[in-house]
Amino acid sequence: MCGIVGGVSNKPIRNYLIEGLKTIEYRGYDSAGIAVFNGKKAEIYKVRGRVEDLDNKLEKRIDGLVGIGHTRWATHGEPSVINAHPHASKSGLFSIVHNGVIENFRAVKNALMEKGYSFLSETDTEVIANVIEENYRHTGDVYKAISKMMSDVKGSYALAILFSKEPDIIYFAKNRSPLLIGRGQNGNFLASDYLPMLKVADQFVTISDYQYGSISLDDIKMFGRNDHPLPIVFHETELKPEALDLNGYPHYMLKEIEEADSCVKLLVDNYYDGKSFLFDKEMMRQIKEADNIVFLACGTSYHACLLGSRFFRKAGKISDVYIASEWAYNPYTSGKKTVYIFMSQSGETADLIHCLSVAKKMDGTIITITNTQGSTLSRSADHTLLLYAGIEVAVASTKAYVAQVSALALLAGALNDDASVIADLEAVIAAQQSVIDNHDKIKNLASFVSGKNDVYFLGRGLDYDLALECSLKLKEITYIHSEAFPGGELKHGPIALIEKDTPVIGFISDAKTELAMRSNLHEVEARGARVIVVSSITLAHPEDDFVVPYAPKYLSSLVKVLFGQYLAYYVALKRGLNIDKPRNLAKSVTVE
Ligand code: AGP
Repeated sequence: MCGIVGGVSNKPIRNYLIEGLKTIEYRGYDSAGIAVFNGKKAEIYKVRGRVEDLDNKLEKRIDGLVGIGHTRWATHGEPSVINAHPHASKSGLFSIVHNGVIENFRAVKNALMEKGYSFLSETDTEVIANVIEENYRHTGDVYKAISKMMSDVKGSYALAILFSKEPDIIYFAKNRSPLLIGRGQNGNFLASDYLPMLKVADQFVTISDYQYGSISLDDIKMFGRNDHPLPIVFHETELKPEALDLNGYPHYMLKEIEEADSCVKLLVDNYYDGKSFLFDKEMMRQIKEADNIVFLACGTSYHACLLGSRFFRKAGKISDVYIASEWAYNPYTSGKKTVYIFMSQSGETADLIHCLSVAKKMDGTIITITNTQGSTLSRSADHTLLLYAGIEVAVASTKAYVAQVSALALLAGALNDDASVIADLEAVIAAQQSVIDNHDKIKNLASFVSGKNDVYFLGRGLDYDLALECSLKLKEITYIHSEAFPGGELKHGPIALIEKDTPVIGFISDAKTELAMRSNLHEVEARGARVIVVSSITLAHPEDDFVVPYAPKYLSSLVKVLFGQYLAYYVALKRGLNIDKPRNLAKSVTVE
């Protein structure tokens, strides 16, 4: 969480910092700040709230050419101006922005306090600023001070550091939190990901763990462990700044929901050439030879894997799905030859990075499926599958889920060289298009749901996996309490929650469980619930509330999930909420 930017340019840096921070505000948005060299002094400006508030508060003209910026998701200390970054060291020699968490910050802070340091904020970041200052006092060299800081503190950090005696340089350091350098015509830049730099840089350097260095107008210096200088290796990115355009949509979430069909199409085009699957042959061999597939993921990505493991089992593979933060502390595989599939839209999720270090010790093959090329999880895996979903800006994941489930269906199809999945996904694309064209009915249902305090989603089998995802979507952006249950579990307790007019949304996609599911829905209806049935056309009853066109049963969630996404969107709209940036959340969850 938290986003950082920095830049040394031949043009005033203010706009790069502000516009750049806006593009990574999805990483956290409870406070924001920048520090800009104005003559010899680093001036710090901070607000509690959004980058836009900071923009409005700042003078339009700030002439400084060198600066750093931050958008925060609070970990240490409440969201406030004092806790907002940048933080200065005691004497003001260093000003820093930080993404990450310092695990031993209390011990380090106490040691500094014994040496006479005092602190204004509750943050671990102010502690780092003072560790660097203390080290500088002993070494008289900023690189050495940073290098020593990296052995003094334990935890994750991406840092951009201003040193008041060198107003034309930004220092940086990185461990377990992402950081990139961008080189452009007008200078060198730093950021947590590509987005802030797309308009100012065309060549990029990925900084790895335990690396540190500096950028100036026309120079980049990097050092690795043991303080050896490193060669600067540039790469390009296919991401384009236009990907951030709203194209007339009022919110990114709505735009991204309606990109579902094009996401499926792009995946098919990337992984099937009309005759055969295009997955890496060595990776396919390893999957085929594995005696267990272990899926690891969080949140929406976990829900996608629940479906994926069903596809893999159907294709003959033993497979298990675990929530990453649980598996990390209780790792398990029943196999001797395990393939671990790490599913992550961002590729930076801390719980998964923890699992990665555990899985590496357990032996086996690691595959990352991600939407983010060059991300930490991708760089550390034996193989990476990209989701090609394009940038997903809204914090609530929509099109990435669709891409994740589709990618797993393709991979499972490729296991037995079964190309019928291609026609099946084409049917999905047509059905999704039809839901997009006819989603007005969902708006009406959203009006009813928006006034409620509790909403329940029911499903059996793969519909239960879908129910979990729809429930998560609703709660994360509407703040309505919501839960998902397997239809059959209801009588074992949850039915006690049903009151008059409680919305209960039931999914029906499987002929095998249809009757049982309809009985469950009758049971809650008899207790006053307002039942909303979302069914597949082949199983639909005339009174069902929303009927989706044909798609093969095992892929039906790729169509019905649009119902859940639209419902959450329109409920949040009706409640007047910030749809793309819901409270307390961040898109890239880089702390455990
Ligand atoms: C999705 O709407 C959520 N915001 C969240 O559950 C997300 O899926 C989860 O944090 C995992 O993120 P990842 O896919 O980037 O690893």
